[in-house]
Amino acid sequence: MRKNESNEVSEMFSEMGINLKVVDSSDRFFKSLEGITDPEEKRKIIGEQFIRVFEEEQNKCSAKFLIQGTIAPDWIESGGGERDIIKSHHNVGGIPDDISLQIIEPLREFYKDEIREIARKIGIKSSERQPFPGPGLAVRVLGELTPKRVETCRSACYIVETMIVDAAKNGRCDLPWQYFASLLPVRSVGVHGDVRVHGETIVVRAVKSIDGMSAKYSTLPHDLLAEISTEITNSLKGHVNRVVYDITHKPPGTIEWE
Ligand code: XMP
Repeated sequence: MRKNESNEVSEMFSEMGINLKVVDSSDRFFKSLEGITDPEEKRKIIGEQFIRVFEEEQNKCSAKFLIQGTIAPDWIESGGGERDIIKSHHNVGGIPDDISLQIIEPLREFYKDEIREIARKIGIKSSERQPFPGPGLAVRVLGELTPKRVETCRSACYIVETMIVDAAKNGRCDLPWQYFASLLPVRSVGVHGDVRVHGETIVVRAVKSIDGMSAKYSTLPHDLLAEISTEITNSLKGHVNRVVYDITHKPPGTIEWE
């Protein structure tokens, strides 16, 4: 999850009067993902572990149903029939066959903009949140997932999100549809003071879109990008020494990097 996200989600549920139990299974996910770098393999493992955690909890409270927020792009991108597998969404292509919970997906036929409309109509606070992939920051950390690399990505995402929101509030740019950082397993030589640093690379991504099916990269002001870059390299000294901005539309890119 992103910085403070579990608490924010928890609070949102308690405001709605829903009894939410939060289970921290990060150790289990890190263990099963050790040494895995292929993005599809990661998604499959995450999908399986995700269900296993639910099954363990199911046994404690004899739940029968798993209600998922699966939406149309999830199953479209997960392939099947004539469709190519763009990526196996953990809640579709990543689900194991031997699952004992009955899955219910009330939003399956809707696109993100339509779901926002529904959420607004029924007064759900999350209607304006920016999208975030089900497998979480695991998608945004390319290469091997280690607690340290995920923490680096989490910090960079937080910087990108907060600085772009502030800039939009101050009229420096429009708020993009989605904006975040990904950590690339690309090391390059940099210098901090007079010390050589062989650090990794953060890519900043910000896009305009309606439903996430296609997107244009956002033309953020260069001085804002420079401030974000300085903040990231200062806060992540020794780990990250280079920040790049992605200027690819979707298609041909996707929104996330993985
Ligand atoms: P891509 O990267 O495919 O992403 O252009 C399109 C939108 O979907 C989000 N995304 C996901 N959402 N589970 C989700 O619920 C996932 O596995 C997943 N992967 C990508 C992405 O953040 C973007 O908004």
